[in-house]
Amino acid sequence: MIPVIIDTDPGHDDALAIMLAVKSNFFDIKAITTVAGNSTIENTTRNARYILKLLDREDIPVYSGALKPLKQELIQAVVHGKSGLEGIDPKNEALLTNNAVEKIISIIKSNPDITIITLGPLTNIAQAILQDPETMKKVKQIVSMGGAIKVPGNKNRVAEFNIFVDPDAADIVFNFPVKKTIIPLDACNNVQLQIEDFEKLKGTDLYEPVIKMMKPYIKNIGENEGVFAALMYDPLTIYYLINTKVCVSKEYDIKIETKSDLTRGMTVAELRNITKKFNVRVVEKIDKESFKKDFIQILKGNMFSTKLSQTAGVK
Ligand code: RIB
Ligand code: CA
Repeated sequence: MIPVIIDTDPGHDDALAIMLAVKSNFFDIKAITTVAGNSTIENTTRNARYILKLLDREDIPVYSGALKPLKQELIQAVVHGKSGLEGIDPKNEALLTNNAVEKIISIIKSNPDITIITLGPLTNIAQAILQDPETMKKVKQIVSMGGAIKVPGNKNRVAEFNIFVDPDAADIVFNFPVKKTIIPLDACNNVQLQIEDFEKLKGTDLYEPVIKMMKPYIKNIGENEGVFAALMYDPLTIYYLINTKVCVSKEYDIKIETKSDLTRGMTVAELRNITKKFNVRVVEKIDKESFKKDFIQILKGNMFSTKLSQTAGVK
């Protein structure tokens, strides 16, 4: 099991990602830290606690963090509804702790070489870097859902939501000298699940809540992004670490647009053949059929009997 911190803004796809991470038994999850993004910090923290209770894993601590980006006002997502988890709309307490940054730093101090997985805006991670850069340099790697390299944005013409919400935080993280990998829209856009895929969970404890979540998520994505499907942004980020073999990636030199309103949050890659200084590994493709099969099998609790899909050439 690899030691990880998962920083997240649940969010329907974050919820599925946390389920995948927990049920896979691949990760020693030291903490879940929450950040405002898909919804307010109250909602994302409440939702994180709901998901862990659903998984019977309330032993995993939840520490709440930033209620807004470093400099910008918070712009929430639409597709997750008012509660951030439309279809469930959890009623449990949020129990805000406001200590995500200090906990990230202390967990790294006692677990050097830990992996940080980010599924939302990078505000907490940037604040940890600003507060204690020497400790943050001990991290094995930061693996983030974010960015749009050779495809349009999903929040403006060019930017992916997580980077768009807090471009200043992303700028700090992308310039920080630690191993970074991003799973951008380029790798996520073609991995689309339908309600029929989730019907395969029938008979498991997750079936009812997942169906309740996925129906509004698919409807909202369709109405707002034109794709009537469950987009698997955050679960794909977890899956990259579980089955790296079925992913194609390449190193890039990427800068973040923080100034222009028109292109705020753009991950601007140097595509000319001139750069020799790379700052981030970009996952460009993840085999769709491998993900869909393994994702459902792992959520069904068949991790140990699940021989991870292999594929010669990522389709
Ligand atoms: O652009 C997709 C990302 O923004 C996902 O992490 C989703 O949960 C939202 O946070
Ligand atoms: Ca997210």
